[in-house]
Amino acid sequence: MPVGKGLEGIVVGTTALSLVEGEVGRLSYVGYDIHELTRTATYEDVAHLLWMGKLPDAGQRQALRERLSAQRGLSPAVLDLLGRIDRRAEPMDVLRVAMAWIGIELGGLRRPDLDQAIALTAKAPTIITAFHRLRRKETPVPPDPGLSHAENYLWMLTGKKPEPGAARALDTYLILLADHGMNASTFVARIVASTNSDMASAVVSALGALKGPAHGGAPALVMDMLEAVQKDGDPERWVREALARGQRLMGFGHRAYKAEDPRAEVLRELSKRTASAEVFERARKLEEIALAALAREKPGRRLYTNVEYYSAVLLNAVDLPRDLFTPSFAVGRMAGYTAHVLEQVKDNRLIRPDVEYVGPMPQRASATPGS
Ligand code: ACO
Repeated sequence: MPVGKGLEGIVVGTTALSLVEGEVGRLSYVGYDIHELTRTATYEDVAHLLWMGKLPDAGQRQALRERLSAQRGLSPAVLDLLGRIDRRAEPMDVLRVAMAWIGIELGGLRRPDLDQAIALTAKAPTIITAFHRLRRKETPVPPDPGLSHAENYLWMLTGKKPEPGAARALDTYLILLADHGMNASTFVARIVASTNSDMASAVVSALGALKGPAHGGAPALVMDMLEAVQKDGDPERWVREALARGQRLMGFGHRAYKAEDPRAEVLRELSKRTASAEVFERARKLEEIALAALAREKPGRRLYTNVEYYSAVLLNAVDLPRDLFTPSFAVGRMAGYTAHVLEQVKDNRLIRPDVEYVGPMPQRASATPGS
C-alpha cells in the first residue's frame, strides 16, 4: 500500500519522550508541558527527564551537572583537528566531523549507553565555540565547571562571564529545542541505532539531516530575510513578490503543527525581552504581514510561525553569529537524539520499511537495444 509523500501522517514507532499535539499546538516532554518546563527547569533537568524518565531531585541534579562537567572538555586530538579545518568551513559540518572523531574516542562500535549520551551532549558547545575562536585566531576558552550548560556555551564563545539574562534566554531556547517527536533528524538517529550501530554514528547522521533549510537550517535564513526586507523598505510588497516567485517564507509552516508552534510563542516573548526593541518590532511586523499573506495565498494550508522564526531573533540577541544558529539547535537537540537512541536500543528491531517500485518491469538484459 503506497503512503503519502514525505511519510505525512505515518506512525513509524512509539516513544515515551515527547508528545507533539499538532492540531492544538502543544508540546510536552515525558508528560510535562514545555511552558511549565521553561519556567521551572533548566536544560540539564530536561536532559535528565529525557534520559532517565523523570525530573531530578537536588542530588540527582548535582550528580548530572558533575557528569556533564567532567565530559565537557575536548581531547588534544580534537582541538588539533579543529585547528586544521578550513576557517571558512560551515560550523555545522565541523560539528559533524568532530562528533565523528569523538565517536572513535568513545570506542567506535559499542552499544549506546548513558555515558556516551552525556559525553556527546556535553561536548557539543565546546566543539562549536572552540572552532569559532580558532577561526578568528583566538585561543579556545576551556569550560568552567562552575557554570551551567548554557552559561558555558556563552563563556566559551566570548571568554566573558555571561550576563544572567542572556544565559537564561539561551537555557530556555535549549529546553525548547531538546526534543520534538519523530522529526526528520531524530528519525535518522533512530534508524542508525536500529542497525545496532553506535551512539556517535547515530548523532552524526542526524546532524546531516538537521542542517537542511527545511529542518534546522532555517534560522540563519530568517535573519537574511529580515535584512532583505529592511533593505527593500516595503515588507508587504517583498512578501507578496516572494510568494509569487514560489519562495518559502523562512520560519513559517510546519509538518506537525496546524496551529501555532508552541515554541514560537515562548520564543516570541523571550525575544521581546532579550532583543533590541527595534529588531523585535521589525520581526513582529514582518511576522504579521507574512501570516496574513500566507492565509491569503495558501488558503486552507494553516501555515503559522514555527520555532525557527524567533529562534533567529533570540540567538541574534545573545550575540551568536549567524552560522552558529543551526549548531545551537543541535546543542539543544543533543539530549533528544541521545535519548531516542537509548529508547530505540532498549527494545530494538531493525527499521527497514518497504518502498513502492515504479520503474520498468523486469526485462531481459539481452533485449536492451545495442546489446
Ligand atoms: N512559505 C510559503 N509557502 C509555504 C511555506 C512557507 N514557509 N510552508 C509551506 N508552504 C506551502 C507550500 O508551498 C505548499 O503549498 P502548495 O501546495 O500550494 O504548493 C503547502 O504549504 C504545503 O507545503 P509542503 O512543503 O508540502 O509542507 P511540508 O509539511 O512538507 O513542509 C516545511 C514543512 C518544510 C517546514 C515548510 O513549511 C517550509 O518549507 N517552511 C519554510 C522553512 C522552515 O521554516 N523550516 C523550519 C521548519 S521547523 C523545524 O524543522 C525545526
